Amino acid sequence: MSSGLPLLEDLPDVSGREVLVRADFNCPLAEGPGGEVVIADDFRIRSALATLEWLRDHGAHVTVCSHLGRPKGTADPRYSMAPVRERLAELAPYAELLENLRFSPGEQSNDPSFVDELVRGKDAFVNDAFGVSHRPDASVVGPPGRLPSAAGRLLAREVSVLSGLLDEPERPFVAVVGGAKIGEKLGVLRALARKVDTLVVGGGMAYTFLKALGHEVGNSLLDERHLGSCRELLEGPTEVLLPTDVVALAPGSTLHRGEHAPPGERTEVLGRDVGSGYEAVDIGPDTRARFSEVIASARTVLWNGPMGVFEDERFTAGTRAVAEAVAACPGFTVIGGGDSVAAINGYGLAGSIDHISTGGGASLELIELGDLPGLAALRAAPNAPGRA
Ligand code: 3PG
Repeated sequence: MSSGLPLLEDLPDVSGREVLVRADFNCPLAEGPGGEVVIADDFRIRSALATLEWLRDHGAHVTVCSHLGRPKGTADPRYSMAPVRERLAELAPYAELLENLRFSPGEQSNDPSFVDELVRGKDAFVNDAFGVSHRPDASVVGPPGRLPSAAGRLLAREVSVLSGLLDEPERPFVAVVGGAKIGEKLGVLRALARKVDTLVVGGGMAYTFLKALGHEVGNSLLDERHLGSCRELLEGPTEVLLPTDVVALAPGSTLHRGEHAPPGERTEVLGRDVGSGYEAVDIGPDTRARFSEVIASARTVLWNGPMGVFEDERFTAGTRAVAEAVAACPGFTVIGGGDSVAAINGYGLAGSIDHISTGGGASLELIELGDLPGLAALRAAPNAPGRA
C-alpha cells in the first residue's frame, strides 16, 4: 500500500530552496472569550512539526498551505486561517502560511491554473496532509506533477501504520466501529470484515444491525436501506459483535448535547429490544463489559467512531469504556475519526495509544480502497523511487 512513496530524503537538496507544504490544518474551531474564533485543538498543527522542522533544519524556506472548514470557493471570514497562523507562529515561526485554499474555486475543482499559482516560485512540494489525501483537490494532486515531491513525516507514518495494520496485523485483530451513519461506513465494515478476527459494532449504526436480526429498535437510529448489507455481514465468516443491552431515552425525553438534561428526564437500560417510544443512544453495562473484554484480549485494535451520543453527558459511558479498554490494551492500538480522537483526548488517554490518526475519512478510505488520490499523485512524482 505504501510502497513507492517518495520521502523527504528523496527530495533534491532543499537548502536555500522554496518548499511548499500541503498540511491539514483543518482544526476544530471554537468561540474565544471575546467572541473571536479560536482553535479548539492544535493536534493537527503539532502533528506537522516533524516535517516542518526537518525542512527548516535542511535550510529550506517553508510555505504551508491548508484548507479550514468547508467554504465554497469564496473568502469567508469565519474560515480565515488567522487563528491557525497565530498558533503556527508560536510552534514554527519560520513557516509562512497561505490563506485558506478553499477560498479559491480552483482548489476543489482541481483547476490546473490554481495549481500553477500554488507552485509558482517553488522548488519542491511536500504532502503532509494525510487527512485530506482522499480528496482529489488541486493542492493535493496537482503539485507532484510539477515539482519534485515527497510525503512528509506524518503522511508517511499514517500510511505505514495503516498498511502494516491491514497487511500483517498481530492477531487477534479487533476492529471497533461506531458512529451514526452506517451508509458511510459499510464499505469499510466490509473491508475490515475481510481482515479482522472480530468486528465490534456500536454507536447509532448498531441499531440497523439489531433490526436486521429481527429486534425492535423503537425510535433509535435506523437506516432501512442497509438492512440487507447488515444481514450479509452478520452471515459472513467474521464474528460481528453487537450490543446486548443499550441505554435509551424514555418516551418524552430528548438529547441534550453539551448541556445538562432538565430534571425529570428518564433514561433506561434495555435489552436488545427497544420498545416503542424509546430511543437507544448508548451501549449498556453488559455490552461495555463484553466489548472491553474482547478489546483487552486483542493484539491489534483499530477503533473508529463513538459508541453513543457522548456529547450528552448521560451517554458517555459506552465511548468512555471503549476508550479506556483501548488505552489499557497491551496490543498495538490505532484510533481514527474525529469523534473517537476527541473522546480519547477528552479522557486524557491519548498518551496510551500507539497511533492516533489525523485523518478520519482518509483513514477509512485507505482501509476500504487501499490507496488515496494524494498518495497516487506522490508515487507519480518525477523523483519518486523507480521513476527518477
Ligand atoms: C478532515 O477534517 O477530515 C479533513 O481535513 C478533510 O476535510 P473535508 O472532509 O472537508 O475534505
